[in-house]
Amino acid sequence: MSRIALAVIGGTGVYRLAELQDVDSREFDTPYGKPSGPVRIGSLLGQRVAFLARHGEGHSVPPHQVNYRANLAALKQAGAQRVLALNTVGGIGEAYGPRVLACPDQLIDYTWGRVSTLCEEPGSEVLHVDFGEPYTQQLRLKLLAAARVTGAAVVDGGCYGVTQGPRLETRAEIARLRRDGCDLVGMTGMPEAGLARELGLEYACLAIVANWAAGCGVGEEITLAEVLANVEAASAGLPELVAELARG
Ligand code: HPA
Repeated sequence: MSRIALAVIGGTGVYRLAELQDVDSREFDTPYGKPSGPVRIGSLLGQRVAFLARHGEGHSVPPHQVNYRANLAALKQAGAQRVLALNTVGGIGEAYGPRVLACPDQLIDYTWGRVSTLCEEPGSEVLHVDFGEPYTQQLRLKLLAAARVTGAAVVDGGCYGVTQGPRLETRAEIARLRRDGCDLVGMTGMPEAGLARELGLEYACLAIVANWAAGCGVGEEITLAEVLANVEAASAGLPELVAELARG
């Protein structure tokens, strides 16, 4: 089977890559259990790409119950070495308003109680992977270069604060994240990034800003309709961007 150039994990609002052609849908069973759904492998504008919906294609798995280990292990079993994580997030920093695409370079993990390492299995080797740079810099740079080619506006850098969810945050929580230096807030960045590192996968995040985080906008309530509409609008150029990254 030919090599997979890139695996993509879709977040809230991105449940498939409509432009993926000649799709082979594969069910995986991994040492960590089953992933959120089938891995769809196909041709995206001529590039061999694998796609997996993080929350399931019907969005049935909440952030704290995603089997992050199985999802990444399935993509690795499928033959992927590079993973682009799409994460739907709220914006905190001024440059990160709704419909902005950003490629963060740092994160802070506020999640709890999630299985966050491969070394939980009895007898498994204890891993202390280096995580000073949580995203693979080479893949980040390739994503930014691909964005320049396709004309997509992608903000370079930013700190992604990863909260437990599934509820959204209080204004005080967002104020704290801002003081901590977070530019973006979402619920799925961890343990995914750490597990990717443990699995030896190249991993970068393309954050899709769906709303202003609590207290950062004009005081409106955050609705799912707003989130989905903004993700859809911001995702218009995704197929070209993903294909260009897969090419590089
Ligand atoms: N907070 C956390 N996760 C999110 C948000 C948010 O405001 N928007 C989309 N995902």
